[in-house]
Amino acid sequence: MPGVELTGPGLLLRPWQDADAQGALDAFRDPAIAQWNPQGDGLDLTAARRWVRRRADWSNGAHVSLAVADPAAPGTLLGSVSLHRIHDGDASIGYWTVPAARGRGLASAAVTRLTTWAFTELGLYRIELCHAVANPASCRVAERAGYLAEGTLRQSHRYGDGRRHDEHLHARLATD
Ligand SMILES: CC(C)(COP(=O)(O)OP(=O)(O)OC[C@H]1O[C@@H](n2cnc3c(N)ncnc32)[C@H](O)[C@@H]1OP(=O)(O)O)[C@@H](O)C(=O)NCCC(=O)NCCS
Repeated sequence: MPGVELTGPGLLLRPWQDADAQGALDAFRDPAIAQWNPQGDGLDLTAARRWVRRRADWSNGAHVSLAVADPAAPGTLLGSVSLHRIHDGDASIGYWTVPAARGRGLASAAVTRLTTWAFTELGLYRIELCHAVANPASCRVAERAGYLAEGTLRQSHRYGDGRRHDEHLHARLATD
């Protein structure tokens, strides 16, 4: 399974590599990613390299993580898309894109592509997607990727500002 590359129009999902560490560090310093995908304070290049290596190592079977790039410039990191908590046909999906790559459908395309692959190749049945109610861009990604809204979770996750936020739960089933 490691070494998987998924493509789509203008989209490349590829394995994480050590050379992504600086790009990941820059991304974690973006205020929106620090808020909605917090990695903790004091992240430096060494910690970013460790993070990238964890993402590249799928050996525990619990996650599948791919870097988002442009097929025309595969070495340039544009984002991240991952399935977490893979167990018994279920998983959760998470994602971010770097500021320069936003607003052109990249996150929606990446989530859609990984989801389709996970249903057909991993045999997953249900994938959940949670985002803070205060993060409407992520809600649009969920909608565009076909994740139906299932309700609001109250004060369900602590985000980068240290506060618990209400979240929307969305999900897609293999049969949707
Ligand atoms: C959320 C995020 C992944 C979206 O990435 P992207 O590549 O811009 O996503 P897309 O271009 O596929 O779609 C973005 C949608 O959000 C909309 N959007 C952007 N900012 C918005 C805002 N402030 N309010 C409402 N909608 C917004 C865009 O208009 C677009 O919707 P549309 O296609 O209907 O016009 C990106 O902004 C990001 O990384 N944010 C910080 C981290 C984060 O929120 N991660 C998700 C945690 S659940």
